[in-house]
This record gives sequence, C-alpha cells and structure tokens, in this order.
Amino acid sequence: MRVYGDAARPEETGQIMPPGSNLELVRQRLAAARNITVLTGAGISADSGVPTFRGEDGLWRSYRAEDLATPEAFEREPRLVWEWYNWRRELIATKQPNAAHLAIVELERRAPAFWLITQNVDGLHRDAGSRNLSEIHGNIWKVRCTGCNVVDENRDVPISILPSCHHCGALLRPHIVWFGESLLTTDLQQCSTVLRSCDLLLVIGTSGVVYPAAGFAAVAKETSAFVAEINLGPTPQSSLVDVSLQGRAKDLVPLLLDPI
Ligand code: OAD
Repeated sequence: MRVYGDAARPEETGQIMPPGSNLELVRQRLAAARNITVLTGAGISADSGVPTFRGEDGLWRSYRAEDLATPEAFEREPRLVWEWYNWRRELIATKQPNAAHLAIVELERRAPAFWLITQNVDGLHRDAGSRNLSEIHGNIWKVRCTGCNVVDENRDVPISILPSCHHCGALLRPHIVWFGESLLTTDLQQCSTVLRSCDLLLVIGTSGVVYPAAGFAAVAKETSAFVAEINLGPTPQSSLVDVSLQGRAKDLVPLLLDPI
C-alpha cells in the first residue's frame, strides 16, 4: 500500500482509497514508529460515560465556565465551586477506563519511547495503567493549597466546612488549571520535548479549541511527525493532520494496535 505523506493525501489527489485504508495506514505507521506521543481530550472518556464539555450533553451547555472554572469564581464562591467539583468527582468515581484507555497503555508498553499528554482531569488514564503521562489540566482527585501551593491527593473534601491545608491552614482548591490560568512550566516543557521528538502523534477525542493543546498537532507537524486524529467528526485541526479517522475512540484505538 502506498503511504501518503503531506504532499499526497488521498483527499487532495482524489485517489479512491479502499474502505478502512486510512485505519490501516495509521496502524502501519504506529507499528513502525519508534517515538509516539498521544494527546487526549474529553472524547476518550465519553466512552466511559464521563460528560464532555462542548458536545450535545457537554458540561458547558448547562453550566457557565465563568461561574465554576475560573480563579475569580473560586474567590467569590469557593463553596459553589467545590460543590461542582465534588459532583463531578462523585460522577467520575462510578466510571471505569474503557478499551481506548487500555489500548493506550498497550501502546506505551510496545513503543520504544512513549508519552501521553491528556487534557482530562478524571484520572482514568492513570487508573488504566498509563505511566508516562502529563495531566496538563490537572487532576480532579488532587487538591492544592491556596497558601503554600502544596499538592495532595484528597478523595474526601469536607464541603460543609470547606477543606483546609494540613500544613498552613489555608483554603484548599481543586488542582485544576482554570480558564485564565497558565499550564505548569514543567508540563509545557515536557509537551514541547515530546511533540518535537515524536515520529507519530495521535490526537484523540478533543475539540481542538482550547490552547495550548489545540496547537500541539501543528507543533508535531513542524518537525515532520505523522499526525493522526480520532474524533466523532471534523475538528479545526482536521485539515492539518495526515489522517482523520471518524468514529468512537473505544472502537478505533484498539483497532490501531491489531491487524485488521
Ligand atoms: P470537548 O468537550 O471540547 O471536546 C470533546 C471532543 O471529543 C469533541 O470534538 C467530540 O467530537 C469528541 N468526542 C466525543 N465523544 C467521542 C468518542 N466517543 N470518541 C472520539 N471522540 C469523541 O473536550 P476537550 O477538547 O477535552 O478544561 O476540551 C478541552 C478542555 O476544555 C478541557 O480539558 C476542559 C475544557 O474546558 C479544563 O477542565 C481545564
């Protein structure tokens, strides 16, 4: 089978590809890749029953991010923000990693070099067994002190009295990167390193509108990585990537690992 690079993508050349050939192309590239980076978004956890943000039943359809996911909102009404995150914690606690999360663990096991960048805060990649990963938007099961900045795992947040730090007594906040806040410098550096060194980037289940993650496919393309996207539909990055596969992550990601 011909391998399509940038200059000769099937949709540009008008060549007719047999059904499933894009899937086969990504599978072959993945099997040959020595250095793989994966970027995931809420779509991968949608198959576990965790709500996305911008889809039909997305959280930002029913809630205003300004009221719940900004430092100003937390300053104004910490209890409301904690109640919302606790509601999400309770929901996520009932969910399990799905076949796509598990296939990514298997990819990490097989690839000589591998890194997973996730925008998800649900911790499902970790639960599945992923180890080389950056949770660039934080983790809903962690808390951070607003006073001394210490980060702790804390599964039980006492909403009635609001949680306080064991070290300095200041108010604890969810360890989440809110709108208007910056990603950790260490995470940004790690992302830059793995995006620039990978020979294949797989982008799974993200709407591609929240930066800096929305720019990661372009960074990998700059250094000639092969970039494939898996999503239910087209995204703003679809015209930039080498292959867009449309379908559910839980169906497609496992197929990429095994001969079809
Ligand atoms: P979005 O909710 O914006 O996008 C989810 C994407 O997943 C959409 O493009 C869907 O088409 C796709 N999708 C849904 N179900 C899928 C499935 N079963 N298989 C494959 N794709 C599927 O979520 P993100 O792009 O992750 O920030 O959003 C980025 C950030 O915006 C989030 O991390 C969050 C939010 O505000 C923070 O929480 C800090």
